[in-house]
Amino acid sequence: MKTKNVLDLTDLSHQELMDVIKLADDIRKNPGDFSGVCRGKILATLFYEPSTRTQMSFQTAMLRLGGTIIGFDNPQNSSVAKGESLKDTITVVGGYTDIIAIRNPMEGAAAAAAMYSPVPVVNAGDGGHLHPTQTLTDVVTLHNELGRLDNLTIGLCGDLKNGRTVHSLIKTLSTFKNNRFILISTPELTIPQYIKDIINASECTYKEIPSLADAMPKLDVLYMTRIQRERFASEEEYLRQNGVFVLDKEKLRRAKKNMKILHPLPRVDEIDVEVDYDDRAKYFEQTVYGMYGRMALIMRLLENSDRKFPARVMPTHPFRCKNPKCITSTEHYLPSVFREAGGDMLICKYCDGRRLI
Ligand code: CP
Repeated sequence: MKTKNVLDLTDLSHQELMDVIKLADDIRKNPGDFSGVCRGKILATLFYEPSTRTQMSFQTAMLRLGGTIIGFDNPQNSSVAKGESLKDTITVVGGYTDIIAIRNPMEGAAAAAAMYSPVPVVNAGDGGHLHPTQTLTDVVTLHNELGRLDNLTIGLCGDLKNGRTVHSLIKTLSTFKNNRFILISTPELTIPQYIKDIINASECTYKEIPSLADAMPKLDVLYMTRIQRERFASEEEYLRQNGVFVLDKEKLRRAKKNMKILHPLPRVDEIDVEVDYDDRAKYFEQTVYGMYGRMALIMRLLENSDRKFPARVMPTHPFRCKNPKCITSTEHYLPSVFREAGGDMLICKYCDGRRLI
């Protein structure tokens, strides 16, 4: 694999992604053949935010490959509580381990970590920005359940503004031909403009609609998401959004017989429990596919790992990112890095935030 780090799944070429999906399938079918391939290797899971699936599936993935794990799931139990910077934590942990999976509430944190890490960094979720290994989970599931990643009508429902899994999934599926995204949300929780721009620049299309019931008959895939309580400024704002979209048996009557229901989980109350027993519900199988996907990704990333520290001198732009959730707003030593988007527009390389010159 050419890429050293996985900050988004689009860091992998199509060929690399299909290779990882195939390897995940091989591992799932013949787990014994892979039980020692990472013997002697150590994975660090640095989780600054709560997690069940991502953390535990990374850990079980490495253990099932014969490797070992270290890390924290509460930064207050590490020297982060004493004020240690992300740079210093990553530099030190990179010296102890062979690969790092990091989850952090700040957008662009994984990209910042990768700037200082001698070993591969995998983004396990950076605030409301991206979640590439959830997307790997999703595409492994879709490939196994539907046999293709193109020509799909995919409904994405819920918190499309803050749902990092939605952003990463659309970015990846936009690289395949003729996918149609039906974006189902309230006006307050629509998808960020930069994701719409990505779809517009691709061979895919999107439509924004306010009704889950209306979307249902058209869908090959329904991707439900929870309202991301932890990303709201106030409890009142969250409560106004929660409970607007609920998938239940009644709505499912309008769906295709072979539609697949995915959800990154955790679920709160946006899918009624009775839906769990419908054959179209794939969200628990999805969690297992995710572990095999992460096993395959760890294997491929470790194959070309050279333990080199990245270049130390990084040019900094005179402007700073204006997104208050960007990692540069809390880790002030980070260089400003933008890409130019035409006109006077700059896009922050950490968080995809936009600002004018
Ligand atoms: N899908 C997902 O990221 O779940 P966790 O928050 O439990 O890791």
